Amino acid sequence: MFTTLTAFLCLWATLLPALSTAKQSPIHPVGNSAETIDLENDPVSPAIRAHWMRRAISALSELSSPCPFAAFGAVIVNHTASEEGELVCIGANAVMKDGNPTLHGEVAAINNCTRILTDPAGKYKLSGADALKAFSALSLYTTAEACPMCSSAILYGAFRDYIYSTPIHGPNSLLAHGWPQIDLPSKEIFARSLGRDVRTRIVPEVLANETEGLFVWQFGDGACPAGCVKEDDERGWCVEGGGRQVASGKKVSPGREL
Ligand SMILES: *[C@@H]1O[C@H](CO)[C@@H](O)[C@H](O)[C@H]1NC(C)=O
Ligand SMILES: *[C@@H]1O[C@H](CO)[C@@H](O)[C@H](O)[C@H]1NC(C)=O
Ligand SMILES: *[C@@H]1O[C@H](CO)[C@@H](O)[C@H](O)[C@H]1NC(C)=O
Ligand SMILES: [Zn+2]
Repeated sequence: MFTTLTAFLCLWATLLPALSTAKQSPIHPVGNSAETIDLENDPVSPAIRAHWMRRAISALSELSSPCPFAAFGAVIVNHTASEEGELVCIGANAVMKDGNPTLHGEVAAINNCTRILTDPAGKYKLSGADALKAFSALSLYTTAEACPMCSSAILYGAFRDYIYSTPIHGPNSLLAHGWPQIDLPSKEIFARSLGRDVRTRIVPEVLANETEGLFVWQFGDGACPAGCVKEDDERGWCVEGGGRQVASGKKVSPGREL
């Protein structure tokens, strides 16, 4: 009995410090939801935001077509040097083109910027570690609110700003136009991130009046975007100008392109 009690007390004495240490450094420290959303104090003017969002739209024409099925374009800009900003790279959804389900516009842009920032013959010549750090001074613009995969990639990059146009939810949203979506807004992904000191400024629905047209025809009867016409077949997809076929997608289930 005595021995058992001593053993118990000894065990307890050994456990106590461990328990109090565990209390001081919890496995899941507090989240960072309060700092991530800051719409009122955007240091960049709406006109400059609109300019770069139009650049994200033109990334579509530059990398695929003015009316790709998956019209998700992105641009990564350095506003740290000046409010006007300097382009670092562009990207566009390349899921079908490259056969890679992770190549949404935002991830494609991040991959492209990493290549450009670390290119030993390029302008920046950064190491991997320095390229990773560089993202926290950069701003990512995307034609539509990022899905959970891309929101997470933006979070992992700890971007300075993340600016999106057409939202996932709401009256003129991807969901409203019939797009298959994981119904989880970016701000929720950020709010649920624990243990990272990420202060990304999320700027929602910039120029949504100009990106909405990119998303209205695929699952509804919206008109084609400027520079495109309805293809004359039962599929009725939008194709560039004179009826040239969009490179991606014929006879493929649209859901696979997202
Ligand atoms: C962005 O601008 C800042 C401030 O001038 C500079 O220190 C940084 O190297 C720039 N980053 C890139 C990737 O150009
Ligand atoms: C990467 O970005 C550069 C600079 O904006 C652009 O010229 C190039 O076409 C982009 N490449 C891809 C694969 O998106
Ligand atoms: C979209 O709205 C912005 C203001 O937020 C305006 O400057 C722009 O002209 C509008 N675009 C169109 C095509 O109406
Ligand atoms: Zn995505």
